[in-house]
Amino acid sequence: MADNPYRPGAAHAPPYLAGRDAERREFSRLLKQTQVLENLVLTGIRGVGKTVLMREELRKEAIKNDWFWVTSDISEAVSISEEHLVTRLLTDLNTLSGDWEYTVGERHPLGFTDHPERRVIHFNYETMQVLFEHQPGLVADKLKRILLIAWDLMQQHRPNQKGIVFAWDEAQNLADRDKDKQYPLSLLLDVFSSLQSQGVPFMLLLTGLPPLFPKLVASRTFAERMFRVLALGNLSRDESRAAIINPLEKEPKHLKDAFVRFDGPIYGLTKGYPYFIQFWCRELYDYLTSASPQVDEQGEDLPHRISRKLDMDFFDGRWAQLTDRQRDLLSVIARLKNSAGEFTVQEIVETSKSTEQAFSNSHANQMLTALFNKGMVFKNRHGKYSLAVPLLDEYIRRRMGFAD
Ligand SMILES: Nc1ncnc2c1ncn2[C@@H]1O[C@H](COP(=O)(O)OP(=O)(O)O)[C@@H](O)[C@H]1O
Ligand SMILES: [Mg+2]
Repeated sequence: MADNPYRPGAAHAPPYLAGRDAERREFSRLLKQTQVLENLVLTGIRGVGKTVLMREELRKEAIKNDWFWVTSDISEAVSISEEHLVTRLLTDLNTLSGDWEYTVGERHPLGFTDHPERRVIHFNYETMQVLFEHQPGLVADKLKRILLIAWDLMQQHRPNQKGIVFAWDEAQNLADRDKDKQYPLSLLLDVFSSLQSQGVPFMLLLTGLPPLFPKLVASRTFAERMFRVLALGNLSRDESRAAIINPLEKEPKHLKDAFVRFDGPIYGLTKGYPYFIQFWCRELYDYLTSASPQVDEQGEDLPHRISRKLDMDFFDGRWAQLTDRQRDLLSVIARLKNSAGEFTVQEIVETSKSTEQAFSNSHANQMLTALFNKGMVFKNRHGKYSLAVPLLDEYIRRRMGFAD
């Protein structure tokens, strides 16, 4: 039996990456900048395909355009202190600059010593660390200085490369910490905007959940002008079909035909969310290639069965972590006409009046804060809310038996 080509799972490259042409073009435009005026923020809810787009497509685009690409995942730890952020940046840079030669001695600040010795060393992590420690000024000054030297060396060693893209995933983890007097996020924005204004082509590509951009702007208002924001959404009808059918090129005709038959229901049930498409197709493929597929008899029932499995694998665990009152509030949200988009506290309160679960304004606010902390809702800059889990509203409606 052939291997199942579909890949549901965070950061798993899909067999066919559908759509995203607008995003690719936009990034390509940013790579044409000689002076970096715009950096990129790529946001969207979990499972929409940010990581694979960045790793697969945008990386290729950068390399094709003669930019270096360094990348990492931002863990919570990076946001703890400025020192962690510096370590992250220098570690990233080291992957490129580790074998560039750096001459110390000839222009040493104490160059009037008797025997000015020239010594060539590698511009690797240790060198950068030592240099960093010996720079005067604040952390931002020191970091800028190191990055300026790196740019200088890059022009000598790799004159054909246009710049460096620093591609950071899960960047919503970056945060300033007022109570510890640690401002790694401000540091990052200050240093990059300052370097960019001096003509250094180091570009930031920050990928993360929707709170990312509001966070950047809250840290430094100039971030608003510094970033182009691309919000990834679900795939269109045609793009979904391509994601579903194209991976089957080498498969037997009867299998392809079966997928073509189910392509409508899959789109209807997944609404084009990439993770769910992969999940669905993987299940369907397993079923159709299993010892005794009975598509003809059970064809009608199949979407229902796969939905049940998706509910169990994906939603039930999240639902189980909520209190009864939090579930009540989410159930009210699932009744809103705009449950799949943005909604206000007022709308929730109004709708709750017609149910057995009336919420006051302050109680609704309190519940939303708790749900935000559990990663179930997002709040945008204008105080509107949205569900943080794709198709959660449909799951709730299925659970509650609400008519769709
Ligand atoms: N454009 C796409 N076409 C088909 N499948 C995709 C696409 N983008 C993402 N996927 C699939 O969706 C899932 C989630 O992708 P991922 O990049 O981890 O999302 P995110 O980083 O936004 O949480 C993976 O299984 C991936 O293979
Ligand atoms: Mg991701």
